Amino acid sequence: MENPAIQTEHCFSDAARAAVYQAIFSRRDVRGQFLPDPIPDEVLGRVLMAAHHAPSVGFMQPWNFLLVRSREVKQRVHDLFQAANAEAAQLFEGEKREIYSRLKLEGILEAPVNLCITCDRQRTGPVVLGRTHIKTMDLYSTVCAVQNLWLAARAEGLGVGWVSIFDQDKLQDALGIPRDIIPVAYLCLGQVSHFYQKPELENAGWLPRLPVEDLVFYDQWNQGAAPDEPLTDHLRRLQADLRQSGADLK
Ligand SMILES: Cc1cc2nc3c(=O)[nH]c(=O)nc-3n(C[C@H](O)[C@H](O)[C@H](O)COP(=O)(O)O)c2cc1C
Repeated sequence: MENPAIQTEHCFSDAARAAVYQAIFSRRDVRGQFLPDPIPDEVLGRVLMAAHHAPSVGFMQPWNFLLVRSREVKQRVHDLFQAANAEAAQLFEGEKREIYSRLKLEGILEAPVNLCITCDRQRTGPVVLGRTHIKTMDLYSTVCAVQNLWLAARAEGLGVGWVSIFDQDKLQDALGIPRDIIPVAYLCLGQVSHFYQKPELENAGWLPRLPVEDLVFYDQWNQGAAPDEPLTDHLRRLQADLRQSGADLK
């Protein structure tokens, strides 16, 4: 008899597998394409549920989801962004500063929903299974929740933009977040006019996507592939295919 507590289907159907990769490869950071249309609650519910099903160290689930819908609160956060962004621009020189100043790096006021995903580092007490030696694992867990939400949102046709250019203390004050809770991600969410095929920073000439085969090491740090390593060809081909086709993994 089949054990109902285990999953017997291993690989997804071809269509389901393709859909997962489509979400991954077509996900974009959205800043300037938000539409004012509200996000239906059932859709918002699904993407929040996707976030809540992220992996977390010791099953700690350290996240909270602070939904910001108030125009006044958004405005306060936007003011903080503008102040920090002006400081940030000064950190770049010459042509980079010019490009930086032209970039739109947030959609706080246009997006119908903003969402701050936080990490409660004390959620399950001081000793957490799996976080006994590397304390930052709870923060990484929260980032997993962000990524789950981002991918689910893409599948729902919702754009998500991560805004990180803030003075953290001021952001916490603007949202009433206590000092021992960490705001990990401030996200803008909404329906969009379109998604770009490539990262906007790539389109703007800020940086290119790195060749993945240069990032893979074998057995030791900085040890590249042997000349006859077959994985290298696969990686090169996949990256070239994706460059051509957008999000379709052949
Ligand atoms: C931790 C993190 C912080 C980010 N902060 C910002 C930000 O403040 N403003 C912005 O426009 N994009 C931000 N991004 C989006 C990145 O610029 C974007 O992911 C990258 O350029 C690749 O583009 P893509 O997400 O469309 O593939 C952030 C992304 C991450 C993961």
